[in-house]
Amino acid sequence: MKDLKIKTVLKEYSVKFVNDFTFVDNFLKLPYYKVVVGENVYKIYKKKIFDKFPKDKLIIIKFDEERKTLETAALIYEKFLDLEGKKNATLISFGGGINQDVTGFVASTLYRGINWILVSTTLLGMADSSIGLKTSLNFKSYKNVLGSFYPPSEIYINVNFLDSLPNEYYWSGVGEIVKFYLMRKNPLKTLKDSVRKINILSQRKNKNKITKIIKESLKIKLDYMLGDEFDQGKRNLLNYGHELGHALESCSNFDIPHGIAVIIGIIFANLAALNRRLITRKTFDYLNSQLLFPCILNSRIKLRKVFFAYDFILGKYKKDKKRVSYNLPLVYPAKNFSLTKTTDFSVDEFKNNYREFISLISPYLI
Ligand SMILES: NC(=O)c1ccc[n+]([C@@H]2O[C@H](COP(=O)([O-])OP(=O)(O)OC[C@H]3O[C@@H](n4cnc5c(N)ncnc54)[C@H](O)[C@@H]3O)[C@@H](O)[C@H]2O)c1
Ligand SMILES: [Zn+2]
Repeated sequence: MKDLKIKTVLKEYSVKFVNDFTFVDNFLKLPYYKVVVGENVYKIYKKKIFDKFPKDKLIIIKFDEERKTLETAALIYEKFLDLEGKKNATLISFGGGINQDVTGFVASTLYRGINWILVSTTLLGMADSSIGLKTSLNFKSYKNVLGSFYPPSEIYINVNFLDSLPNEYYWSGVGEIVKFYLMRKNPLKTLKDSVRKINILSQRKNKNKITKIIKESLKIKLDYMLGDEFDQGKRNLLNYGHELGHALESCSNFDIPHGIAVIIGIIFANLAALNRRLITRKTFDYLNSQLLFPCILNSRIKLRKVFFAYDFILGKYKKDKKRVSYNLPLVYPAKNFSLTKTTDFSVDEFKNNYREFISLISPYLI
């Protein structure tokens, strides 16, 4: 499949779609580099990939949400300081969104920016976060509050990595893809196509078609991102489902993976639109039954009632980074399902919608 060339105000870079692991051989020729990989991915792909590298080139780290920190970044800085190459060194990351967030932060800050190659190993990384330019660290109990805008020079997408991806993370990636499909032009006219593609994803079989779906998702994201790389306008709409989604991720202590939390957030945003008579009951029900609830059910994530406690959720929702006034931030579908950022979503309106939302999802809570 053809590369996807991306021209941002920061730099031009490309997404390469590959279908075997020989692309790694080119990395061995780089003069100064280190490979950063999470423990899980290292163990699974040791023979196929990582045994090709000299041992001193590998930095193997346990990545999880609790370790998306300055301390983990410091471990990586230290290893790079030993290299003879400085500003001309390359950091090669193999991993999902967490690895990407941390290694991107390191690559953007070490010597004010070194070369960075990203190999995405999760569906969420491949279809969404890899091209997002954003790097992030958590600080104390605050998620993603440290960060920078920094693109890799090359991104590799090889859907064979998905063979080993656990079910809940696979469906987390599908969740973000569903979001993109609801952000297409005239999404209601293309709903049948979206449902068909989610069915293809759910079978986890046809790698060619899955690669095409990933490329399509990236293109939808680019429509919103290019021209607004720094999140001042239309890029904010990519936050659809993320306001309640982030609150839920946090209240579940990250037991609910990102993309599934986003799907639940989309159901909430759609409900707010329904109650403002911006979308019809028919559309609301169709989306729930054909796209949104199937993602939640297929992920087999346990949704515990305690994750949804009103005060807990509202407290987190109020801390949303995108909040700019007394009202709460919300991106939702307005007329013709065109996404809009509201500025008048009050705490009272939140409360009323939340009550109805809980009765809607209560059959799925344990
Ligand atoms: N920077 C951005 O633009 C952006 C956008 C969206 C999400 N994110 C962040 O990404 C993170 C979530 O990313 P994610 O969904 O990719 O999950 P992840 O990076 O947490 O990876 C999920 C799990 O799968 C394992 N794993 C990864 N690839 C695997 C493979 N091929 N086979 C087997 N196991 C594998 C990992 O070790 C981990 O345990 C969150 O922290 C979120 O905030 C960042
Ligand atoms: Zn997201």
